[in-house]
Amino acid sequence: MKNEKRLITAALTYVNNIPHVGHIVGCHLPADIFARYCRSFGYDTTFVGGSDMHGTPSLMTAQELNIPVETLTEELHKVHKKIYEKLNISYDIYSNTHTDIHEQVTKDFFMELYNNGYIREGETEMFYCEHDKMFLPDRYVVGTCPHCGFNEASGDQCEKCDSLFSPNELIDARCKICGQKAVLRKSKHIFLILSKGVKELEEWVESKKNIWRPHVYAEAKKWIQEGLKDRCISRDITWGFNIPLKGYENKVFYVWFDAPIGYISLTKELDEKKYEQLWINKSAKIYNFVGKDNIQFHAVFFPTMLLEHKKYNLAYNVVGLNFLNYEGQKFSKSKKIGVFCNALLEDNDEIDIDTLRAYLTTIIPENKDTDYRWEDYKNNTNSELVGKFGNLFNRTLNMIKNYFNGQLNIDINALNNINDLDKEIIDAIKTMPNKISQSFEKAELRDAYKLIMNYATIGNGYIEKSAPWALMKQDKKEEAEKVLALSLNLCASLCIVASPIIPNKTKILWQDQIGLQESPSQNGIWHKASKFNIQKGHKIKDVFPIFERVDNEKLEKFKTIMSTPFDIKEYFNK
Ligand code: MF3
Ligand code: ZN
Repeated sequence: MKNEKRLITAALTYVNNIPHVGHIVGCHLPADIFARYCRSFGYDTTFVGGSDMHGTPSLMTAQELNIPVETLTEELHKVHKKIYEKLNISYDIYSNTHTDIHEQVTKDFFMELYNNGYIREGETEMFYCEHDKMFLPDRYVVGTCPHCGFNEASGDQCEKCDSLFSPNELIDARCKICGQKAVLRKSKHIFLILSKGVKELEEWVESKKNIWRPHVYAEAKKWIQEGLKDRCISRDITWGFNIPLKGYENKVFYVWFDAPIGYISLTKELDEKKYEQLWINKSAKIYNFVGKDNIQFHAVFFPTMLLEHKKYNLAYNVVGLNFLNYEGQKFSKSKKIGVFCNALLEDNDEIDIDTLRAYLTTIIPENKDTDYRWEDYKNNTNSELVGKFGNLFNRTLNMIKNYFNGQLNIDINALNNINDLDKEIIDAIKTMPNKISQSFEKAELRDAYKLIMNYATIGNGYIEKSAPWALMKQDKKEEAEKVLALSLNLCASLCIVASPIIPNKTKILWQDQIGLQESPSQNGIWHKASKFNIQKGHKIKDVFPIFERVDNEKLEKFKTIMSTPFDIKEYFNK
């Protein structure tokens, strides 16, 4: 099992703006924590991500800003990359979908489907602007809603009465760019025949019943039951990859056709050998981490493409997440509601990444939508990170420093005075890492975090009840030394199991405070978490508080920094 290969993917983010915290907890962070766990456990792990460069939203934004779409997406791609680096998202590659490799892989993928008979041609009617000489994607068309009369309805839906309709029902349709009348025009398109692969898809989905989260499985089932209609995979826009078929020179692939193929291209871009191992040789386990609105594409649409293509590996688990709200409301850039990531682009002492990562872990929307709340951020920092986790290290290390001059001369493997309290803690070291690993395996990261905090609480309780300070007063030095040695071993174990969530802090604790070699995030280190890592004669290095309390004043400051939305116009000097 240790040689098991795992490929972890995080959904490729659109680059028509910068990410907000919802994108982080809804995908990048859980994927990262899982990838870090996998490396630590010893799996042969690859973690890929990138920017989804194509699609109408980027094109529209570029047009609004009056800059080339290439400039917009390249620039924002860099910004995204920087933000994920700042958050310590440990991508093995963070590239994007506008590369030569990806173009080749996408076209080859398409030709394979075409040659296998899964592509058909068809015709659709779409709005066209004679002034701008272009077909208008739904979002480019405005008109009057046929249901409620709202006169700013767009393409196929009305924001006011929430109804959906087909574009030819829209009254007085006009072009959003120039305001002139939009006319319906026929256009040739290519369709992916999904129905041909549906039987295999159904079997595949069924085989995931006990692996996927219930809401992911249910969503896939629902799509299949409704019957899979052929999907149009061409678009009359100028941004994307050209379709390699005669008569389609002026059309590009639908963004949701090329984007998921990006996982394959990114792996290939990273390492040709890994591409072979992970995609062609189907022995690897693939984990797709995706936000709520991406579930259908990863559980139905893309797998059908793969099944019809036949050559590539399919996902083992589609880890679908839900939405994050903000203080009970939806995130909204325009209303300035939410937590944004632009502050991460600058060096800022107010932001402690691991403190943020730890809080965000508690609100990963695993089974239902969750809420970002500043009060909860404060409580998690003060009562969990400072009060439980940090406190255990601080007390243990301080007492070792004060009572034993920083050095323990006890052989933990040859203890002959083990009492019931000691037994409990020895037992915790032997069993808790395994329990925690079971939660990580299922990508139940909130549970893993809770267990980690429970583990720290066990350590605190042990110190409390064993009271080394009292033992010292009673001249039971050896007893006290034993208690502290066991606690220190628990601390080392905690560093290993917590490092997927708080990699910076655990590394500092491990190296600069406990004084151990290498790092608690090392590949394959996990098995050491249930062992004693402190040798006889070990000398600790240093003691200082690792997490800082948040008071109301600090909270306000942090909140102000993180609540300022990114101004894309200003960024591009418009
Ligand atoms: N760009 C899409 C979004 O941000 C996600 C694409 S995921 C992939 O919602 F599968 F296409 F990669
Ligand atoms: Zn127009």
